[in-house]
Amino acid sequence: MVVSRRGASAKAPRTNFESASHSIILGDCVAEMSKLTAGSVDLVFADPPYNLQLKGDLKRPDESHVDAVNDDWDKFDSFSAYDDFTRAWLLAARRAMKPSATIWVIGSYHNIFRVGAIMQDLGFWLLNDIVWRKTNPMPNFRGRRFTNAHETMIWAARDEKAKGYTFNYEALKAANEDVQARSDWLIPLCTGEERLKGADGKKVHPTQKPEGLLARVLLSSSKPGDLVIDPFNGTGTTGAVAKRLGRSYIGFERDKTYARAAEARIAAVEPLPEASLAPFMTAREAPRVAFSELIERGMILPGTKLFDAKKKLGALVRADGAIMFGDKVGSIHRMGAVAQGAQACNGWTFWHVETKKGLKLIDELRAEIRAGMAAE
Ligand SMILES: C[S@@+](CC[C@H](N)C(=O)[O-])C[C@H]1O[C@@H](n2cnc3c(N)ncnc32)[C@H](O)[C@@H]1O
Repeated sequence: MVVSRRGASAKAPRTNFESASHSIILGDCVAEMSKLTAGSVDLVFADPPYNLQLKGDLKRPDESHVDAVNDDWDKFDSFSAYDDFTRAWLLAARRAMKPSATIWVIGSYHNIFRVGAIMQDLGFWLLNDIVWRKTNPMPNFRGRRFTNAHETMIWAARDEKAKGYTFNYEALKAANEDVQARSDWLIPLCTGEERLKGADGKKVHPTQKPEGLLARVLLSSSKPGDLVIDPFNGTGTTGAVAKRLGRSYIGFERDKTYARAAEARIAAVEPLPEASLAPFMTAREAPRVAFSELIERGMILPGTKLFDAKKKLGALVRADGAIMFGDKVGSIHRMGAVAQGAQACNGWTFWHVETKKGLKLIDELRAEIRAGMAAE
């Protein structure tokens, strides 16, 4: 992985698992994203300056100093200057997005409403706003307002008519006790070992995001091998998570120190084993396998007998992929229905073959073919 000073490559990296690549482009994200191939990016995650408008030093009631975000990169002369900047980077990101790509933008009450309105004005189609609720928020030191305990992420498609964007609905549900995943996420701030510190023991960056947050973003809205970009790379949280999850990554960062820290961080990340990242497939999404393929692959020979689970009903496999039940011939589904006197039947989950270890559902043989297809 390199911090490139030459700017973004005109060609997007190949987007398959083995060739996943990870780079950080040093420079202004608007200029550099404009060099990406139009329509080449699968997912954008953006953690832009929030324009926190902090005036002077922030102190606790006991006069001790609060380590707040007071960096020049977060300062804008006016709301209008911030809006111009927001418009410019959103347009550059949109140009690079595939028609099916989606974008996440995180912000706080300081900026997220402006960003959301601009996104709608530019034609993005808002899909959700996710509330990241912090388990360990910073208190409101002066006790003049509520504890600011959340940030908001807008998730949007490139436009209203966008089709086929990635949302790993079934996998998210399976990971959530089979309950539909919600739009409020409870995740701690980035602290402890995960927080990047310099030789002086101080934080490398004031707004490093937790990897848990980025993992949920990437796992919900991208696939292994996808190209993910982050216009505001910072410490490279998005890149580190992208690499761990087998996604390609391009980050853009203006500050050399942050870019270098991110480069070292991402280089140290080991991708997870490919098998643990394979996309979760619903029955509808799984590649179609015809019964005849089991015969073509020699997994079932013509003349083999198929049985129901209790071995009371039997059918004969023909060379052409149909099966014979008594004097009737048809598909595994049709003959399954006939055998049971039913209207319909899923033959894959009805018929079995006899093996040395007992009866084996033909659906298990189909699963073996599908597993082979996924590995190809
Ligand atoms: C809110 S921080 C991102 C932090 C990051 N998500 C992380 O986890 O470390 C925003 C970053 O954007 C960078 N930045 C601001 N304006 C930029 C621009 N026009 N082009 C590239 N980077 C920029 C800042 O230097 C800062 O590191």
